[in-house]
Amino acid sequence: MKKIHKIRRLLSGALFAAAVGAVGWTGPVFAAEEEVSFELDVYPILNSRCVACHQPGGDGLEKSGLDLTSYDGLMAGTKHGPIVVPGEPMTSNLNVLIEGRAASELRMPHNQRPLLRYQTLIVRDWVKQGAKNN
Ligand code: HEC
Repeated sequence: MKKIHKIRRLLSGALFAAAVGAVGWTGPVFAAEEEVSFELDVYPILNSRCVACHQPGGDGLEKSGLDLTSYDGLMAGTKHGPIVVPGEPMTSNLNVLIEGRAASELRMPHNQRPLLRYQTLIVRDWVKQGAKNN
């Protein structure tokens, strides 16, 4: 008798766990989009892959006028104008160039291994979220 009770309790516990599991599983399938930070997420990518050339004295800054040592420099863009259109990663030159959507000789970093895909996605989300100085 006692034993049966115990089994029943165990069983209902298992059913309960299964039900909770099922409810959890049918919850949101897509995670809410995470907020990307310029300082924590985007700048480290620029600093490791772009700044060597896009800083005072560097080839990239000399030729294009683009200074990537700061948020203000990035937003100021090149001598031809802005490369970031807040909210518009598909048309922002920054995204076009790092994703290799322009002529291959214009892909950035110039003549170096491209950014990893996840890095381009971080920059894409950041532009999509308004290119904030956050
Ligand atoms: C090895 C040096 C080097 C690195 C690293 C580099 N660039 Fe450049 N970048 C250049 C040079 C040189 C130019 C000028 C190209 C030209 O005018 O022919 C340039 C130009 C640009 C332009 C302007 C293109 C245009 O059509 O006006 C952008 C935007 C740019 N770089 C972004 C970046 C970004 C973002 C990174 C990092 C992901 C990066 N660059 C890394 C050398 C570099």
